[in-house]
Order: sequence, then structure tokens, then C-alpha cells
Amino acid sequence: MEHGSITAEDYLKIIDELTNYRGYATLNDISKFFSVTRQSVYDEMNILIDRGMVERTSKGEYVLSEKGKHEANIFLRKHRIAEILLSRALKMRWDLLDSEAMGIEHGITETIASLVCENYGCEKCPHGNPVPDISGNVTEPNDLSFQEIGKYSHVRVSRVIFESDDVLRYLQSNSITPGADLVVGDDGGVYFGHEGGRSMIPEDIAAAMKFFPQ
Ligand code: FE2
Ligand code: FE2
Repeated sequence: MEHGSITAEDYLKIIDELTNYRGYATLNDISKFFSVTRQSVYDEMNILIDRGMVERTSKGEYVLSEKGKHEANIFLRKHRIAEILLSRALKMRWDLLDSEAMGIEHGITETIASLVCENYGCEKCPHGNPVPDISGNVTEPNDLSFQEIGKYSHVRVSRVIFESDDVLRYLQSNSITPGADLVVGDDGGVYFGHEGGRSMIPEDIAAAMKFFPQ
């Protein structure tokens, strides 16, 4: 990542995403996401634990406290509105939105946010995630995880819950974005159709999405 200073809010956001993705965040995941050392992530986690935002489990995994989740939601409003602005006003490529939003999200005031909502609508970010309201309240969609779709044969992509560069690049290059229709195979894999036939989406990428049964 090219952005010099990673803020406490950026850490809260990635812990929230990783928790949605696989139930918790680890030092490894976080340091890989930001391309920083495990030690600097560890130091930041201790600060966030002292502030009552983050909890460390007995296995050394990290999750957000109630307070941390609320703070994350306040920040995710700015982040997701920044993504909408870059996408709709600047027509920025879908797979660049998450990382480029990091450059402007801290400057999204509520005046800017309400104008973005007025001009473009701000129900969901371009990856399908709901935009929290000004108080940090958010209504999560009633969608299903990769582990839950086994009994359906057709699903539609609801959203991308882990917006990493690798995940977004793969999905963009295969035209898989919210609203895309996919097939669940007998083997439990998720397949997309293209000119050459059908391909299975790698499991770690399928697990980074949520779906609606069709
Ligand atoms: Fe994002
Ligand atoms: Fe997004």
C-alpha cells in the first residue's frame, strides 16, 4: 500500500472486514493487508485494546469490541461514501476503489457525504456493502456466506465482504460484481460462465463474497 500513515480507523476497518470474512483477524492477515511489520501491527493492537476498541482472544486473534464496532461503522460510512464518489463521479475502476478511497476517506465531511447521497444514492458501496447512517447504525443484508449456499444451484452475488486488492482484481477481471449470477456445483464449488465454458472461483475468493439464492 502506498499510503504512508495507517490510522487507527484503518485498523478498525480491516479487523471488521477480516472478522466478516473468517470470524477474526490475525497479526499476519493485518500486516499482509497493509504491507507493514507484525510488530507494528502488534503495537497498534495494544493501543486499540487500551482504548477499549479491540479484544484479543485466548488464541491471539483479534476482534472488535462493541465500542470498536461502533467506531468502525462511523468510519465505514466515510469509506463507503468515498468509494461511491470515486466510482460515480470519477468513473474509477471497480477494483481500485477500496485502496484509492483510503486516500480521501478521512476528509469526507458530513456535508460532502450528504451531497454524495443526494446525487448518487448511498445505500451501498460499489462492492455491495451497506453504508451506515450518520449515527453508525447499519442494516446488514440477509445474504448467505459461501459455507451456507451448498443446497442451492444458482446464486446471485450480493456483495464482497473482504475487499482486498487480490480479491477485487480477480473478480473485476472475470466480470463478477454484485448482481452477477453464479452456479453452485455438486462439488460445492462456485462457478462462473464465460466464452470458454465454466470456471470455478478459487475458494478463498468465493469465501470473500456473500450471495442471494436464485
Ligand atoms: Fe472498501
Ligand atoms: Fe466497497
